[in-house]
Amino acid sequence: MSYNLLKGKKGIIFGALDANSIAWKTAERVHEEGGEFVLTNAPIAMRMGQIDELAKKTGSQIIPADATSLEDLEKLVTESMEILGGKIDFVLHSIGMSVNVRKGKAYTDQNYDWTQKGTDVSAMSFHKVMQTLYKHDAMNEWGSIVALSYMAAQRVFPDYNDMADNKAYLESIARSFGYFMGRDKKVRVNTISQSPTPTTAGQGVKGFDGFIAYADKMSPLGNATALDCANYTVSMFSDLTKRVTLQNLYNDGGFSNMGVSDYIMESFIENEEKK
Ligand SMILES: NC(=O)c1ccc[n+]([C@@H]2O[C@H](COP(=O)([O-])OP(=O)(O)OC[C@H]3O[C@@H](n4cnc5c(N)ncnc54)[C@H](O)[C@@H]3O)[C@@H](O)[C@H]2O)c1
Repeated sequence: MSYNLLKGKKGIIFGALDANSIAWKTAERVHEEGGEFVLTNAPIAMRMGQIDELAKKTGSQIIPADATSLEDLEKLVTESMEILGGKIDFVLHSIGMSVNVRKGKAYTDQNYDWTQKGTDVSAMSFHKVMQTLYKHDAMNEWGSIVALSYMAAQRVFPDYNDMADNKAYLESIARSFGYFMGRDKKVRVNTISQSPTPTTAGQGVKGFDGFIAYADKMSPLGNATALDCANYTVSMFSDLTKRVTLQNLYNDGGFSNMGVSDYIMESFIENEEKK
């Protein structure tokens, strides 16, 4: 269903790797809602992913950019404005990666070079993206910037490892930069804190299957899917949410405010009785 919520709006979408990616689903939904955009991802991901297919489907151009490189980001922002024929209305930062997670290093045994790399990719890149947009005065007034987060920024999920710290940093950048974006450019900045979602990045987390099932049974509405996240992001890019800014917005079926659910209690009691 399309509501034409993004008709005439132009943007940049980071992080579509394959059809499971949250950014992929978001690009499809933004396209359906009439938005135009440039797709971007790390050069390495271009080779691995299927982004060409998405570009064709949505009539978009692709500009490779490593989100940790200011040079790449400068090029991305200036070329995007040329391609789109003007300033930008929306940006999705959908980027995350921890080398410690990927290589199975425990939180208590980090390789700090890897930790730094993960922080640079997952959090500082968001600052770099916004600083580049800010300096180039690349955003239209009442534009909207969204980055994707996870609740491990607030609560302990041991296997999320150093990504928990990266998400806390990401959410803080959204608030701090969001202030300047609001004051000087009338642009809003928010993070969406999404349920566990079966994507390449998500499935890299140890014990992901148990984790996603647990979250689903804990949440009164069940886990939010990638499509749910795409829809929420569309609403955040639309003019219907003009004064929502500096927020971390939960899209998680209610998980973040739960203590325990009947389902979890019952399975816990069953297990206790078996003892
Ligand atoms: N999947 C989940 O369970 C879940 C839950 C909450 C939040 N998130 C967040 O959603 C976002 C998108 O992840 P996803 O789950 O769709 O997985 P995904 O693996 O499809 O997307 C991650 C993207 O980050 C890109 N990336 C990595 N390094 C980069 C770099 N240096 N420069 C530019 N791009 C780079 C990858 O190429 C990939 O496209 C991430 O921020 C992730 O942490 C995911």
